[in-house]
Amino acid sequence: MPAALWSQSAPASPSGAARVYLDTRRRIAPVEQNLFGSFLEHLGRAIYEGIYDPGSKLSDGDGFRKDVMSLVRQMGVPIIRYPGGNFVSGYNWLDGVGPKQDRPKVLDKAWNTLNTNQFGTNEFMAWSRETGTKPLMGLNLGTGTAEDAAALVEYCNVGQGTRWSDLRRKHGIAQPYDVKNWCLGNEMDGPWQIGHMTSTEYGYKAADAARQMRAVDPTLKLIACGSSGPTMPTYLEWDREVLEQCYDYVDALSLHRYVGNTPEETGNDSGKYLALNLTMDRQIEETLAVCDMVQGHKRSPKKLWLSFDEWNVWYRARSGDAMDGHRHEAPHLLEEIYNLEDALLVGGIINTLIRHADRVKLACLAQLINVIAPIMTNGNGLFQQTIFHPYNWALQYARGSVLDMLVEGGSTYEAAGMGQVPHLDITGLFHPESGKITLFVLNRDLSKSHQIEMNWQGDSAAHLLTALVLTGDDLKAVNSFDAPNRVAPQAAANGSNATARTTLELPPRSYSVFQWAT
Ligand code: AHR
Repeated sequence: MPAALWSQSAPASPSGAARVYLDTRRRIAPVEQNLFGSFLEHLGRAIYEGIYDPGSKLSDGDGFRKDVMSLVRQMGVPIIRYPGGNFVSGYNWLDGVGPKQDRPKVLDKAWNTLNTNQFGTNEFMAWSRETGTKPLMGLNLGTGTAEDAAALVEYCNVGQGTRWSDLRRKHGIAQPYDVKNWCLGNEMDGPWQIGHMTSTEYGYKAADAARQMRAVDPTLKLIACGSSGPTMPTYLEWDREVLEQCYDYVDALSLHRYVGNTPEETGNDSGKYLALNLTMDRQIEETLAVCDMVQGHKRSPKKLWLSFDEWNVWYRARSGDAMDGHRHEAPHLLEEIYNLEDALLVGGIINTLIRHADRVKLACLAQLINVIAPIMTNGNGLFQQTIFHPYNWALQYARGSVLDMLVEGGSTYEAAGMGQVPHLDITGLFHPESGKITLFVLNRDLSKSHQIEMNWQGDSAAHLLTALVLTGDDLKAVNSFDAPNRVAPQAAANGSNATARTTLELPPRSYSVFQWAT
């Protein structure tokens, strides 16, 4: 683990505080802004009623929800994965382009939902431009062929003079989109996936698609499908066998992960739940080990990076009607309502991603609107779920390079099946251009506050710019249209002195962000 999460063997300080030695010169890697991407799938009310609702009083002339666009723009979401997810593995992208009146209404077999195709590739590109986000395009490697994948690249990225680029121009889009990042299919290891196949079959198909796509545009960044989670029986074997076939043709491998406070996963123990991000540290490290093993085996000079392109808490709206669209348009699917403890864990996951920024270059909170999402809409407006806040902090404050901090002291607790886990989960960044230092801290202790003694090395923090905390008495508290700010950031009551040593106070059950100018 690159950052100092586990180096807490030194004795506790007399005050009982954890001692953090933060040296702005000890930088691990720049944190790519794409680490805080998100995801919009043709699923439930993510697209229809979420971002696109032509009949709504809140929409513009293109049918885009203005309130949603303005919030997404304000958040600065850097990149959004589209159009799926499980959906993509049965999607014919040609159904979603061209005159709207000619587009077919299609049964999406992944979610048993009717897709009117009124929103497709060109609408997504227009929406992305309006909101200032970049597209991360998913390709159908289930029912779709490698040739179909290359055709979509040609449609999106070639200027003119070829069959598919000229079709785009005929559809009224003169300029190519120049989409850089592409996912070669989705969760192809899963028996639930349309077109599910063996690792060797998928590896061949991904290599073929990559070769054809690069013939169209050699500048692409291509992400192969890794395991869809550590509970898969083929976990890591899938990754190894896929990469044996396509290592030379791809740039990155994907990981997916959803966690929940369930009897099976945590025994409904919130203490253990708040430690689950550490199992994602492990998932990242195990996946990297496989990538690097294949690299060695192939004697390749290339190192892959990871795309953690689906991650979130998801366990309540995960069965029955929450997963079955019953052949309706825009059904209410996967409408998980998040509470405080979910938000704290999402903060922990953000810490996990940041401390692996040397190899995880892209990640997507799954998803963005209405479907396991930080933002919920109805016909009259929107509200921010609890998990919106840690995600938004990452977007606003996580700039620069992740730091290799030394953390000494600090206490631990036993989490069933995980051994001793630190109460505090801390990541730090330094942004040389602005001189800002940022610290994100999860306090997993459900009943006690903890202290951090900051020891400044290299550049010292001159004054505090931001001190915010997300906390509350009730771990199960949620936001809603009626009570949108029940769980919301508050000013942190400390951290204002920035001498050689600064003491920070972390309330129980909290996630905090501190930012200083140097
Ligand atoms: O994000 C919801 C679903 O979870 C996606 O469609 C799929 O890729 C994953 O299993």
